[in-house]
This record gives sequence, structure tokens and C-alpha cells, in this order.
Amino acid sequence: MKGKKNRLARILSPETGRGLIIAIDHGMALGPMTGIEKPAKVFEMLDQYTDAWLMTKGIFTHVYKPNGKKGIILRASGAATIAGPDITRELSAASVEELLSLSADAIACSAYIGSSNEHETLQHMSRVAEGCRRWGIPLIGVIGVGKDKEKAQDPKFIALGARVAAEHGADIVKTYYTAEKFDSVTAGCPVPIAIAGGPKCETDEDTLAMIRGALDGGAAGIVMGRNIWQSSRSIPLIKAVRALIHEDISLKKAVAMLNA
Ligand code: 5RP
Repeated sequence: MKGKKNRLARILSPETGRGLIIAIDHGMALGPMTGIEKPAKVFEMLDQYTDAWLMTKGIFTHVYKPNGKKGIILRASGAATIAGPDITRELSAASVEELLSLSADAIACSAYIGSSNEHETLQHMSRVAEGCRRWGIPLIGVIGVGKDKEKAQDPKFIALGARVAAEHGADIVKTYYTAEKFDSVTAGCPVPIAIAGGPKCETDEDTLAMIRGALDGGAAGIVMGRNIWQSSRSIPLIKAVRALIHEDISLKKAVAMLNA
């Protein structure tokens, strides 16, 4: 348990219980999308402001320059793309042992609730959880909803997904923020929840408002990608996000930081 506790402390700060994790794993399914055509640039720009990174074994191996200072979360699931028949058919892309050998502090694995691959992806998450328990490595359960994007806004549905991930062995759940009743999502989940951002919000102020709302609703932080690295003001934005998460500043102060 001590090993797991030590690894978790590199993901969620032991002081605040919160984490600022930047996701840069999108290329595994979406290719070189806007903002991460050159992942090295994103690492260079944002590394000093993050607590941890979420990426694939490929980007870790070929691009990331380890500095020993940041938590590393590597993906166990993948193997489905936007060009294939079903992006929710996300199963094994790496074993727990392989990811541990790459120095993972935590492992991420997706399950797609309500999709035709719900059963397989949840079974896969359970198996990965078993491996993670064996080695004392935390599992981030990534809850996806598939094509029906409306579900990502439905607190009942997201609460279901978050609880299901925890019940299948996740130590932290990554899922979507629901503008309404997000506190019911966190209340029903026995492990910390960190929010993904989804597609880019209209403004950076909207991104800050989403994060403030999630923290107020009991989230432990973010595992966010597009809203940060697709912004034209990534650095002021991430500085404001950091202050929201670790200093608990108000939305007004965060917006002022962004626009300073
Ligand atoms: C990509 C993912 C992302 O890690 C997750 O969706 C977070 O990124 P974003 O904030 O851009 O939604 O699972 O496959």
C-alpha cells in the first residue's frame, strides 16, 4: 500500500488532495489533432505548471523528456480510432507490467458506459484493476459515453458511470463535468473524480468557470487536454487553473489572472 500511496502523491497533491493533470493521449485515436501536432512543444510549454501528464506509451517513449518531477499516467487501453468502425471498442494497448517498466505512477483505462462495447470495456477495466492492485499502482478509470454526447451532460448518467468505474476497481475516476448537479456525481462515487474538458469551450473564461464549478461540486481536479493546449493563451490559462485547483481562488480572481 505504501508504494501505491507514494505513486498517488505524484498525481493528487497530499497537501490539497487535488491534481492538475494534462491529457495528451488524444493522438492514439484522433491522430495529430490541432494543438498536439508536435507534442514536444506542449510538454515544453506546460510541464512546469502540471502535477502529472496522461499520455500513451508511444509518446512517453518517443517524445517525453523525463525530468523526474512530474507524475506519469500511461494508458493501458486503446486500439480503436476515429477512422475505424467503433471508437468505443477500446481494449488492451499495453500491459500493467509494460507500463510499470516505463515508470508509470498510475495507469489509465477507459470504459464506455451505455455503448455496445460497455461489457468488454468494463471487463478490460476490471482486469487492468487486478494487475494494478497486484503491483500497487493506482488506476484512473476513464469514463467515456460514446456517440451520444448528450449523456455527457446528464448528471444521472455520469454518476452511474463514475460509480461503475469505482466499483470495477478505479482509484480515481476521470469523467465529464455536468453543469447541473455535479455534486450528486461526486457524492455517489467513493473515489476522487477529476474532470476531462471535452471539446474546446467558446472562451477560456468558460473553461475556468467549468473548473471552478467542478471543484465546488467536489471534484479533485482535472485531467484535461483540448481546453488547455488548444487555447491561444495556454500559459496564462494554466496559471489561473493552477491557482483555482491548489489555492482555491474565486472565478473572478482566476479570470483576472487570465487577463492580467
Ligand atoms: C482522449 C482522452 C482524453 O484524455 C480526455 O478526454 C481529456 O481530454 P479533453 O479535456 O481534451 O477531453 O480520453 O482519448
